[in-house]
Amino acid sequence: MKFYIKTYGCQMNERDSEAAASALIASGYEMVNEEGKADILLFNTCSVRDQAERKALGKVGILIKLKKEKPHIIIGVLGCMAQRLKEKIIEDIPHVDFVAGTEQFHRLPEIIASVLSKRKHIVAIDADSEIIERLAGHLYSDNQISAYISVMRGCNRFCSYCIVPYVRGNERSRPMEDIIAEAGRLVDAGIREIILLGQNIASYGLEGRGQPTESSPFAELLARLNAIEGLVRIRFTSPHPQYFNEKLIDAVAMLQKVCKNVHLPMQSGSDRILKLMNRHYTAEKYLSIVNSLKAKAPGITFSTDIIVGFPTETEADFNDTRQLMQAVEYDNAYIFKYSTRSGTKAAEMKDDVPQSIKEERNQILLADLARTTEEHNRKIVGADVEVLVEGVSKRNSTRWCGRSDSNKVVVFDPVPGIKIGDLAKFKITRATAMTLFG
Ligand code: 5AD
Ligand code: SF4
Repeated sequence: MKFYIKTYGCQMNERDSEAAASALIASGYEMVNEEGKADILLFNTCSVRDQAERKALGKVGILIKLKKEKPHIIIGVLGCMAQRLKEKIIEDIPHVDFVAGTEQFHRLPEIIASVLSKRKHIVAIDADSEIIERLAGHLYSDNQISAYISVMRGCNRFCSYCIVPYVRGNERSRPMEDIIAEAGRLVDAGIREIILLGQNIASYGLEGRGQPTESSPFAELLARLNAIEGLVRIRFTSPHPQYFNEKLIDAVAMLQKVCKNVHLPMQSGSDRILKLMNRHYTAEKYLSIVNSLKAKAPGITFSTDIIVGFPTETEADFNDTRQLMQAVEYDNAYIFKYSTRSGTKAAEMKDDVPQSIKEERNQILLADLARTTEEHNRKIVGADVEVLVEGVSKRNSTRWCGRSDSNKVVVFDPVPGIKIGDLAKFKITRATAMTLFG
């Protein structure tokens, strides 16, 4: 039978979908890239903002027509929204055959077999600690040079706005040896760059304990991976600033393969709002981490996540965010308008910032960001940039492309002798916001 899987949300979801697909393929199912060719339609969903849920629910809702025409088709809703809404999804959308939560991905072959044989609705949402060992399969495509590795699951931080701890459960880290072995297998298969994933990745190995000042298991993991021969680049997402003690700052700054481009979610630059968000740092502390990294790794770039319109956010709070953003000079930022998630601590507060103000603050930050990006790009033109070569450009088949350390696409004319996976230096001649030309 053929299955199709659509993924909403973050890179953790992409990785879960990939591992789930590889488990289904191992059980004899065939993966297709077109919805119309599939017998089984799977939707791996996101709950982080209301809009993400509505998008997936809307998509699944309209499949009623297809289900009437082809009743044999199986529809499954997976992941965070499945975990949050449980059987309510089937109550509201009865043509959904099954719901499988965030810890059930490795059980999909069994769940689907059971839907097929019994032809009844299934709601599988139990916690399952085995998932962390069992969800390790990868799918390789031709000339793939980059791969995700999940190093931990869950989050214990309970930032007041965030649904993740409720749908992804407690922090659990994979044994370091398993991660090193998986990275080794990927490198043997031709992978040159690995992207480490975890909801609260820098607390790797702490299982919810606070970061000690003298050590950092995540820094140790980075050092072990850095030593793997044949591996060229290491990226990771998303760390919480509180885990950036000196050990981790040094590891990121000094380890040669760790990209000098750090995603460091700031959320707000106002100490009052940060406190209400339960973030456990101040703007000053955040900036001191950034400045230490800048001092130890000149040229390092940063990206971030920011929420505008958190309950009670005033013009003055917003200006603090603007200021911190300007002090860091981000290379990229994801800006979100606050959206209430029921069950979270912040949902007890009134969502009192009008939508129009959220929109206005969003636009202001985007314009500020565009200015810093332009500034960065002006500095890059004329400079030499190291590029991990990915191959023929998708947009223009006469040119090649790759990525810079700071994760920007670099487009260049093919050079004799250059191969996919090479690390090569290019002089940048032109730059747009997200693309460099060399
Ligand atoms: N409203 C808006 N943005 C949110 N995020 C998380 N929860 C919410 C929410 N309730 C943002 C945070 C986080 C990113 C993945 O999504 O900025 O870092
Ligand atoms: Fe959500 Fe905070 Fe955990 Fe990130 S650290 S997943 S924002 S609770």
